[in-house]
Amino acid sequence: MRALAVALSASLLTATAGLAVADTPKAASKAGARDEAAFIEALLGKMTLEEKLGQLNQPPGPDNRTGPQAEAGGLDQVRRSEVGSFLGLHGAARTCQYQKVAVEESRLGIPLLFAGDVIHGFRTIFPQSIGEAATFNPAAVEKSARIAAIEATAHGFHWTFAPMVDIARDPRWGRMSEGSGEDVYLGNVLARARVRGFQGDLKRDDEMLATAKHFVAYGAAEAGRDYNVADMSERTLREVYLPPFQAAVDAGVQTVMASFNEVGGVPMHANGPLINGVLRKEWGFDGLVVSDYTGVWELEKHGIAADDTAAGILALDAGVDIDMVSDIYRKSLPAAVRAGKLSQKTVDEAVRRVLRLKYKLGLFDDPYRFCNVEREQARTLTPEFRQAAREVARESLVLLKNEGNALPLAKGKLRKLAVIGPLADSHPDMLGNWAGDGRPEDTVTPLQGLRTALGSATQVSYAKGASIDGKDTSGFADAVAAARNADAVVMFIGESAAMSGEASSRTDIGLPGVQQQLVEAVKAAGKPVVAVVFSGRALTIEPLSKTVPAIVAAWFPGVEAGNAIADVLLGDYNPAGRLPVTFPRSVGQIPLYYDHKNTGRPIRINPDGKEEKYTSRYLDSPNTPLYPFGWGLSYTTFRYDAPKPKLAKIGAGDTQQVAVTVTNTGTRAGDEVVQLYVRDDVSSVTRPLRQLRGFQRVHLKPGESKTLDFTLKPDDLAFLGLDMRKRVEPGTFIVFAGGSSDASQQAQFEVVAQGR
Ligand code: GLC
Repeated sequence: MRALAVALSASLLTATAGLAVADTPKAASKAGARDEAAFIEALLGKMTLEEKLGQLNQPPGPDNRTGPQAEAGGLDQVRRSEVGSFLGLHGAARTCQYQKVAVEESRLGIPLLFAGDVIHGFRTIFPQSIGEAATFNPAAVEKSARIAAIEATAHGFHWTFAPMVDIARDPRWGRMSEGSGEDVYLGNVLARARVRGFQGDLKRDDEMLATAKHFVAYGAAEAGRDYNVADMSERTLREVYLPPFQAAVDAGVQTVMASFNEVGGVPMHANGPLINGVLRKEWGFDGLVVSDYTGVWELEKHGIAADDTAAGILALDAGVDIDMVSDIYRKSLPAAVRAGKLSQKTVDEAVRRVLRLKYKLGLFDDPYRFCNVEREQARTLTPEFRQAAREVARESLVLLKNEGNALPLAKGKLRKLAVIGPLADSHPDMLGNWAGDGRPEDTVTPLQGLRTALGSATQVSYAKGASIDGKDTSGFADAVAAARNADAVVMFIGESAAMSGEASSRTDIGLPGVQQQLVEAVKAAGKPVVAVVFSGRALTIEPLSKTVPAIVAAWFPGVEAGNAIADVLLGDYNPAGRLPVTFPRSVGQIPLYYDHKNTGRPIRINPDGKEEKYTSRYLDSPNTPLYPFGWGLSYTTFRYDAPKPKLAKIGAGDTQQVAVTVTNTGTRAGDEVVQLYVRDDVSSVTRPLRQLRGFQRVHLKPGESKTLDFTLKPDDLAFLGLDMRKRVEPGTFIVFAGGSSDASQQAQFEVVAQGR
């Protein structure tokens, strides 16, 4: 293939014969340090208007299925310079075929970009992103993205539409599965980790462009209904939904994807104030903005564009550089420019951004650097990648409940184990959604994992019991019989992978179908029963929590699901996952998140021990969640000393150090996710009762203590004042330390001078 690449790149010189010698890629690179801007300006100067708008066109590849059916882009379009990049087209040989046509057969030989959704793995599928967030381990999350990039680039992808950094506080919204949950601080940390993992420094052939998506406030869809309106104060937008995008920009993300929703009446694909204003001008983002799938065309559905031309002008003027799938920029905008309705300057600026990314990836030097078929085979689903996926999957599992130490199962004493439930042996569901090129046959199911781990010492029986969301209970009898005939039972229940992800909102987020009834029927058989719950979101599982003594939240753990789950259930790995989202008791409590405000009438208990009626509460439910953000148990126990701020008083621009000592008071070694929360006690605008401002996953042996140092920078104490300017105000700050958001160990310090 190398020889072909050399031959083809030589033809690149002829293909760009119209360019001055110094402009031709090879000649320019032979001239030593190439002036990127001069190269791009020279190329831009040779392009026709149609060729420019072709660079802004991104059709789906022939087998892309990530949105409503649309006409795939083909080789003839490439020959006619009508395509700048493809969605979902991959494969070393396949992309090379298209690249060859672009470089050899189009007039200027501008190489293509190949983009796709590599969200939590390409072929080695790691835990669903929400599960990766549950690791509270940025290094693990970065490693997952790194391996995904190694595989995806070997398969010809230059660009991934990840990380999804949307804050999600409404579990009815199916895309909670794709991000890092409800918390801004965790979201910021993991956004940076994933950008680093995918992009590195964009010099190697296993590093790819990343995309911070979906800009912005997509997760705030009203009623949790996907694509719905998002409407909020500027304060909430700037303090909750924008920060993870700024974190990604600060980490050097090269592209951003606009979101389907409107914000306050302005659809994001036409939202110049937020794209050109905040993203570009305020933050200095100099990368590229890509539309979401038909997002440009949807401006007509939003009712702010009368036709394709109007939609295209609005989007390009707002700063959306590439039109994914609508094919409006290519078809409708040449006439708009010629009619003076759209400035050539705006088009040129967007084209420059596309050419800059192609240049940054070295595609003008070697358009075929990602076309290596041998490398593709060598870098796919390797044993090392699988082992990494197993490690991240283990860390993602959250032990929600473990009454009477029902877990871990007594491996040595277990003669007969019954494995029951619709997810116990489901290969496809272990992949989760947005599972790239993942294949069901690559996965290890829980049944397989347990049988492998237990070997011949334990007889493992299996009964599906019920389907995931059907009403049929005819399988209960077999399940109950299997339970009766076993020493212990593990149930694998929850959502299918297709019940979360895009266009998968649910009004009822309890266990689907008759699964709760199945658990109750099996429980009635009288044997010890524990449950593993799969989901892409927080679920309302209070009935389950009243039925079984132990529950593990597994999300969708990826290719190594069964082995990772067996490691935890059998005690070979001590779980330490923590909830990145609040688990409400009921849908009626939603939105429910830990960093809520106090209100003027917080709940209080009267002398008679009852809640005061006239307070912010429900008549039919506690305010508290079933399991709070940051929650998770271990097979050991930990004790926290009160956090120790280094300084009793600091200035508003100063940094504070806080030491937290944690001790393993149990009998097993284990990880603990030490969390630090901060509260600004009195301030000029209301502040949450507490906000995560630091976490560290630490390993402790039985009896071992460790003191962890946390640094609170001014930004960790700052908020937007009445004037919407960031400031640290004088007053008392309270710090909380513990193993979840209801941490009780606390201390305080004073800020003594007026902030910024
Ligand atoms: C989808 C999703 C987006 C994805 C894109 C391309 O509609 O909203 O996250 O990257 O289309 O598949």
